Amino acid sequence: MSERSGTLADDPLSGRHPTSHERLTGLPWDASYRDGPPPWDIGQPQPAIVRLASEGGFAGAVLDAGCGTGENALHVASLGLSVLGVDVAETALAIAREKVDDRGIEVEFAAADVFQLERLGRMFETVLDCGLFHTFEGDERPGYAASLASVTAHDGTLYVLCFSDDGPDTGPHPISREDLRAAFNLSNGWNVAAIAPDRIQTRYHDDGAPAWIATIKRI
Ligand SMILES: C[S@@+](CC[C@H](N)C(=O)[O-])C[C@H]1O[C@@H](n2cnc3c(N)ncnc32)[C@H](O)[C@@H]1O
Repeated sequence: MSERSGTLADDPLSGRHPTSHERLTGLPWDASYRDGPPPWDIGQPQPAIVRLASEGGFAGAVLDAGCGTGENALHVASLGLSVLGVDVAETALAIAREKVDDRGIEVEFAAADVFQLERLGRMFETVLDCGLFHTFEGDERPGYAASLASVTAHDGTLYVLCFSDDGPDTGPHPISREDLRAAFNLSNGWNVAAIAPDRIQTRYHDDGAPAWIATIKRI
């Protein structure tokens, strides 16, 4: 996939830059959802997110960055919170909106690029990244962290659930604690409050893959 800028009509990326994952695969993210669920789409919220929510981890307006087909956003919204899920994959968003209709849970799903979140013109007290950060390479992370900072309220909380580099049978994009601390730090408006071991469930791991759940505060 090239980075050429064509007309929007023939541009599956709608004018945005392809992410490293899209350059690697040669396909837009949307393609992952067209022939059935992709490996990360387990058809239910991630247990780590369910636990976090049950502990009162979500408050105020919530943004789910890279929401996919919306299971985590729907779960958080079912607890009574106002949730916006954004993604670049229109097929995933269409599936998420069908779930809204089927389940009668109010969640807003919108097409948006997580590298341009300031365009939303909204602020959030809690932001969730479930399985997105680990798809970005090192040179994409500063722009992503800045974009997240532009929509996260002072003292708000960002949760990142990502594959970890800890232990055997790591996922496809292992992230170290140092990677997280390099991406989110005092110099770019973040304070990493905690990085705890957890699991990410996938369609191809029996008991999930090693993960970190990072709690990162906006300063
Ligand atoms: C690994 S999936 C995780 C999806 C969902 N959070 C979940 O747990 O099932 C990453 C998601 O991020 C979305 N994504 C990737 N790059 C994006 C971008 N620049 N802006 C918005 N969404 C993006 C993809 O379309 C995909 O749905």
